[in-house]
Amino acid sequence: MSNTAILEVNGEKHEFPLIVGTENEIGIDIKSLRSVTGGVTTIDPGYKNTGSCESAITFLNGEEGVLRYRGYAIEDLAEKADFLEVAYLLIFGELPTKEQLDKFHTDIKNESVVDDDVKKILDAFPKSAHPMGVLASLTSALTAFNPSSVNVNSEEDMYKAIVKILGKFPVLVAWTMRKKQGLPLNYGSDKLGYVENILKMMFEKPNHDYEQSEILVNALDKLLILHADHEQNCSTSTVRIVGSSHAGLFASLSAGISALWGPLHGGANQAVLEMLEAIKEDGGDTKKYMAKAKDKEDPFRLMGFGHRVYKNFDPRAKIIKKAADEVLGDLGVEDPVLDIAKGLASEALSDDYFVQRKLYPNVDFYSGIIYRAMGIPVEMFTVMFALGRLPGWIAQWREMRLRKEPIGRPRQIYIGENLREFKSINER
Ligand code: ACO
Repeated sequence: MSNTAILEVNGEKHEFPLIVGTENEIGIDIKSLRSVTGGVTTIDPGYKNTGSCESAITFLNGEEGVLRYRGYAIEDLAEKADFLEVAYLLIFGELPTKEQLDKFHTDIKNESVVDDDVKKILDAFPKSAHPMGVLASLTSALTAFNPSSVNVNSEEDMYKAIVKILGKFPVLVAWTMRKKQGLPLNYGSDKLGYVENILKMMFEKPNHDYEQSEILVNALDKLLILHADHEQNCSTSTVRIVGSSHAGLFASLSAGISALWGPLHGGANQAVLEMLEAIKEDGGDTKKYMAKAKDKEDPFRLMGFGHRVYKNFDPRAKIIKKAADEVLGDLGVEDPVLDIAKGLASEALSDDYFVQRKLYPNVDFYSGIIYRAMGIPVEMFTVMFALGRLPGWIAQWREMRLRKEPIGRPRQIYIGENLREFKSINER
């Protein structure tokens, strides 16, 4: 195989090296394109064909439905590891030893308190505010309470910033929900596990102790692992690009949360549940909504179907579908919305429109059903996604800074007016 690609522009041939990844993915290295061609650029809206970086964190093959964190299959991690082990793996590259994991957990617990003044910021939000907006603001506000910038040349400094955000973020998540529900703001306990503390902080009522349910702990652990990283998606690319200007970790994460909020990305899990509810309210006619999804005149899309990268199946959706069946069975939940979901999935899987376009249920199609069974309000679904994605964002930010990547600054092809003569206001 030749290790270069040749591009002919205006009758002149230019050679560009090929980069081959450890899984034999091939990239054309066009770093020199503009200089050798005198300013020619590439156009790739949505970056469908553009690699923004080389990364050693997550491998996915959308055609074959493969997802691996640091070389470990997502199926293995979801079954055998816990969320904190996976977080450590993603961020530092290797599964932790028992000592490393214990220290990591202790260090995180020691940081699981936020400045009391954060409560005043939270108080200023109306109860109607969307939790994702509140979470993005509070995460950004952490910068003000922790103003010293991270020295990325110091492993110790990096580590401190990482355990700080892993400790404080679940507190902000829980408070965001509690504020909406009018519940007093609380804290976790240093006797509990990371995921147990998330559940305690979210669901504890002021008048009685929160009893942990193994089913809920395991289900949330699995959901967080499945969402922990997904290479260069919209929010992760946002974290990397904001961080590439050397903005701090918390500011970069806050930008990632805003990117995740949109219904075409993390907001899809909320949109799925709202869609299923709407179908139920409208009599449960799944065929009517299948027809709407296929009608090009109708803006309706079947939320939770399709994926930019997975054009076969989403391996996370397989794991999560099984988990959803188990959790609902274990909790004894009979949910008519689940029947509608199952109906839509089976109709879509045998419908030409969906089959030809390779539109399969994605992870968000099922995650909302589990969150709902756990008693998490719909508006918090995307927040739960952010909680899971946090280690991935941190790992990607750390990698970007350690590799000393240049500031992200795409080019464009200008299609506006040519030079015009300025007219004074009376002449216009
Ligand atoms: N319902 C109906 N038709 C769809 C859907 C859908 N959910 N998704 C894609 N299509 C159709 C498009 O209309 C298009 O049809 P055409 O070729 O006849 O014009 C074709 O499939 C390709 O669609 P694109 O939008 O070009 O695919 P793209 O890769 O850009 O988008 C996306 C992927 C955004 C996920 C899209 O499938 C979608 O909007 N899905 C619904 C939202 C959703 O579930 N998002 C969650 C993504 S997963 C995550 O973020 C964790």
